[in-house]
Amino acid sequence: MAPAITDTRAPSPASQVQETHSVPSSLSLSGKTIVVTGGGRGLGIALAHGVVESGAHVVCLDILEAPTEPGWSTLLKLCKEYNTTASFRRCDITNESDVANTLTTIAKEAEDRGAPFSGIVACAGIQQKVPGLEYDSADFDRILRVNVTGTFITAKWAARLMAESKRGGSIVLVASMSGQIANRGLTCSAYNSSKAAVHQMCRSLAQEWGQYGIRINTVSPGYVLTDMTNALLETEPEVYQKFMAGALLGRLGEPEDFKAPTVFLLSRGSSYVTGIDLRVDGGHCAAA
Ligand SMILES: NC(=O)c1ccc[n+]([C@@H]2O[C@H](COP(=O)([O-])OP(=O)(O)OC[C@H]3O[C@@H](n4cnc5c(N)ncnc54)[C@H](O)[C@@H]3O)[C@@H](O)[C@H]2O)c1
Repeated sequence: MAPAITDTRAPSPASQVQETHSVPSSLSLSGKTIVVTGGGRGLGIALAHGVVESGAHVVCLDILEAPTEPGWSTLLKLCKEYNTTASFRRCDITNESDVANTLTTIAKEAEDRGAPFSGIVACAGIQQKVPGLEYDSADFDRILRVNVTGTFITAKWAARLMAESKRGGSIVLVASMSGQIANRGLTCSAYNSSKAAVHQMCRSLAQEWGQYGIRINTVSPGYVLTDMTNALLETEPEVYQKFMAGALLGRLGEPEDFKAPTVFLLSRGSSYVTGIDLRVDGGHCAAA
């Protein structure tokens, strides 16, 4: 384990003087390396597209052996277009030494490339739908282990590297609207509890890490059509009506909908934003 971080000096008044930047340049991620966990498929790979389109190099981590198609080929095409790079590494976010070694290597390579490790999107997560009266406690633990502890391990090691670099950075945790509401008709108590924990983790770590110039925020998707939700809809097609019941914009989310909100939180454009939840749910939580 790396030594404890001890430099907790408050920023001097001079460091509060902000340079001015145009809005497009504030939203650019050019010159940065960004990591996306769960970047092998679904929402994660779409967020990696958004990162590359914003000018950054991206490293996708996933427990999968390899990223899925056609998302990966599209990502590589975007890299050519935007003159950046994308790479994939197998990494289990619940394995602390795996995460520590992987992120340390990525940060070193990013430094050598001249595009420092400046942000991470913790998107890896798992879902399970079981009635509470029948929920096996080992299954409940497994959901918490990945969605809560795995997310914490990811944030902790990213933050250590950002603090050591003295450049700070931005951490985006992918939570869910289900961390704030109970989804009517769905039996997902472990998942919902895990995402509520991610919201509180964000506030708690924002309170600790602002002193290092590290911002941490959550993005909370509503229902999004990905492999995760498609698997549920295939086995229980009637769930679709439940998903649509709160869809104020008349549709479910697409992974594309989360690119710009996530890039905003990663970018200098959100430099005074930390400890918040950015809910992107098509209005679902606005109506009972
Ligand atoms: N799809 C939705 O409707 C929805 C809604 C709200 C929040 N979310 C959240 O968005 C995130 C992405 O979900 P998705 O819909 O793309 O699901 P997905 O299953 O398609 O993608 C999740 C990815 O995480 C990876 N993963 C799982 N465990 C891992 C581990 N231990 N280490 C590393 N990688 C691991 C999986 O292999 C997969 O590639 C999740 O955190 C999920 O909870 C999804």
